[in-house]
Amino acid sequence: MALPFQMRDKRRRIIAVRAYADSDYPDLIEMYDSFEPKGLEAGLPPPDDVTRHKWIDQIVSSLFNVLAFHGGRVVGHAGLDISDLSGCPEYLVFMKQGFRNFGIGTRLSETMKEVAKGAGCKRIWLTVRTGNTCAIRVFKKVRFKFKGEISVEREMELILRKEMQ
Ligand SMILES: CC(C)(COP(=O)(O)OP(=O)(O)OC[C@H]1O[C@@H](n2cnc3c(N)ncnc32)[C@H](O)[C@@H]1OP(=O)(O)O)[C@@H](O)C(=O)NCCC(=O)NCCS
Repeated sequence: MALPFQMRDKRRRIIAVRAYADSDYPDLIEMYDSFEPKGLEAGLPPPDDVTRHKWIDQIVSSLFNVLAFHGGRVVGHAGLDISDLSGCPEYLVFMKQGFRNFGIGTRLSETMKEVAKGAGCKRIWLTVRTGNTCAIRVFKKVRFKFKGEISVEREMELILRKEMQ
């Protein structure tokens, strides 16, 4: 799926999707400052301001990031470390309140799956709370599967390239 692109969400709003640029930094900070829920589990944005801003700095310096915009404001973010030498980077995706359940997170995830394939990743993975059935629905639609132990948090993985025997 080629970037950039535009889509209409399920409310017919025009959503622009493109790769992150340095000039987007203040808007990304703003999205995460007002983001809920924050948390310490399953990769949610850290509640503490200093820790969260360091977390964002780490994301923009080491991941390939894609943003979704509405009316010029950042309403969604997906990231993947495509330079990860293991070829198995962690995937993250967040939609701002008011923009969830409108089809945007699925499109971002489909896009990042193609980005990962194009970068030669073997697999991508994430951690999700088992109660987060909306997120699990999205990841399953993109063909992520559960892996490992059953617990309140679970790993899901998406195999992109089979190892040669
Ligand atoms: C998880 C998240 C990224 C998904 O993005 P999104 O744009 O809301 O998802 P979409 O609208 O593309 O798809 C949601 C799907 O879940 C379904 N869904 C909604 N609520 C659901 C629920 N409670 N249980 C199961 N499925 C649900 C929707 O019907 C839709 O499926 P469909 O397209 O087949 O009808 C977004 O909701 C989000 O940021 N949530 C808060 C943070 C978070 O949980 N991040 C993930 C951490 S691992």
